[in-house]
Amino acid sequence: MKGLILSGGAGTRLRPITHTAAKQLVPVANKPVLFYGLEAMRAAGITEVGIVVGDTRPEIEEAVGDGSRFGLSVTYLPQEAPLGLAHAVLISESFLGAEPFVMYLGDNLLKEGIGRFVETFRQSAPDALILLQKVADPRSYGIAELNEEGCLARLVEKPAEPRSDLALVGVYLFTRAIFTSVKAITPSARGELEITDAIQHMVDRGLRVEPHVVTGWWKDTGKLEDMLEANRLVLSTIERDVQGDVPETTIEGPVVIGSGSRVERCTVRGPVVIGDGCRISDSFIGPYTSISDGVVVDHAELEHSIVLENSRISHLGARMTDSLVGRDCVIAHNDARPVAYRFLVGDSSQIGIL
Ligand code: TTP
Repeated sequence: MKGLILSGGAGTRLRPITHTAAKQLVPVANKPVLFYGLEAMRAAGITEVGIVVGDTRPEIEEAVGDGSRFGLSVTYLPQEAPLGLAHAVLISESFLGAEPFVMYLGDNLLKEGIGRFVETFRQSAPDALILLQKVADPRSYGIAELNEEGCLARLVEKPAEPRSDLALVGVYLFTRAIFTSVKAITPSARGELEITDAIQHMVDRGLRVEPHVVTGWWKDTGKLEDMLEANRLVLSTIERDVQGDVPETTIEGPVVIGSGSRVERCTVRGPVVIGDGCRISDSFIGPYTSISDGVVVDHAELEHSIVLENSRISHLGARMTDSLVGRDCVIAHNDARPVAYRFLVGDSSQIGIL
């Protein structure tokens, strides 16, 4: 069995981060989201993986390389534009060949991994296996309607009037029968070849599409709130590992502090991950915060936030919470007159002020 990870796309819902970086490389608990998918593939015994890439190919390639670091052999599959999940399958046909494959959306995180589903697929040999999870807001997802026997009856993309709350999780297992369907469907109203239409086409052809409900958590990190929640879920599983120096600092609960970091005169209340080479002083770092390498924080209070490499946060007048701060950003108090807010803000940014 081969693996197919989708790491192209436009990432409009995570702007402005995605103006300058691939959303699949945004770290959750200081590890790029994409790496969780690659590790899940390897843990399920899959070693040959194709990664569908778009405009952000160079940085994805730089981060993943030939895949050997993950025990994988990786092939890059360029997609000329984000023309849909089924389009990504279409362009991957020659890489995938006749083998069955697992398709994994590169911005998704699945607590239980994919080993159990790969095993079920091998044993019961359906034409496709889809994963489902109950969601609170079915209007935002591809939704599966099951019949009384629990078999898949219909798939609907973001239904206005949902008849089920079972959303499609971003992991799918297919035989080569999917290729006939991705070639038969036409673009949807939003101009994309939809994977839901392709799977529906398989059902309509009388093929066996087996639904499985996922019990552990699943997160699509495509937007800010979900990214923060994924960060929270992964941080809930960490254990204490303090490598850096922590003079006059109180550390409570599970806290990871990387090498070369100095955290002084602070309170760090876990779960918190702080990367390497950070300088944090006279601050409070509260639960569910991930701070990447090279970040500087002084006289500030942060919680439930993600701060990316080499940013500086200092002398904030109020606690920063529920935030995603990109690379090389500066958020700092400023003594200049007149007393005023001063911003240099990228397109599609969001700032909440007191
Ligand atoms: P989505 O999150 O559905 O789409 P997107 O990345 O374009 O984001 P947005 O809706 O915010 O604009 O994509 C799920 C995953 O699949 C993600 O890792 C990107 C990837 N993808 C492709 O590789 N090719 C595509 O054509 C599309 C639509 C997505």
